[in-house]
Amino acid sequence: MKIEDIKIRRINESEDYPYDLLFLADPYIEMLNVYLDKQYIYVGESGDSIIAVYALYPIDKDTIEIKNIAVDEQYHNQGIGKKMLTHAESIARQSGYKTIIIGTGNNGFGQLYLYQKQGFEMYDIKPNFFTDNYPEPIWENGIQCKHMVMLRKYL
Ligand code: ACO
Repeated sequence: MKIEDIKIRRINESEDYPYDLLFLADPYIEMLNVYLDKQYIYVGESGDSIIAVYALYPIDKDTIEIKNIAVDEQYHNQGIGKKMLTHAESIARQSGYKTIIIGTGNNGFGQLYLYQKQGFEMYDIKPNFFTDNYPEPIWENGIQCKHMVMLRKYL
């Protein structure tokens, strides 16, 4: 698989949401249902297979959030997440937004690395976001996911 061969497109109204991928970033359907809107879901395809997704969610006229970004586990660390992020930024910019934001758990070290490498900077923490809003404890990297770290990039 070559990174140039990944085609990114918005999903069609008639298409199902790629839940398997969306669940990698956000395991609870109740949370996904709050922000999923087909107008704002983009998928990355290799041939006929959908292997990546991101979901945007407008906050106000200037700011849009990447609520979900995920790559099929067998394709991690090949630059697809970075390509999806760059695409999300250009869609946001073309749509007239001035700022793009993204949130991740306090223990999401890989995600925090990727987003900061991509030029996002931390600006806020939502304390106890995951413990207050998710039914089960979430663990990654040996640390409980409790707080949401918010990052932003000016477009
Ligand atoms: N640990 C360490 N480094 C990482 C990790 C990780 N878990 N993930 C990515 N990186 C680094 C890569 O090494 C690479 O570094 P480099 O540029 O120095 O070589 C850089 O980040 C870019 O990596 P990509 O290959 O583009 O990332 P990938 O295609 O693997 O996708 C993603 C990253 C989307 C986070 C993927 O790991 C994934 O789907 N994870 C599960 C779902 C998830 O956690 N999504 C984000 C939740 S937050 C939210 O959705 C708003």
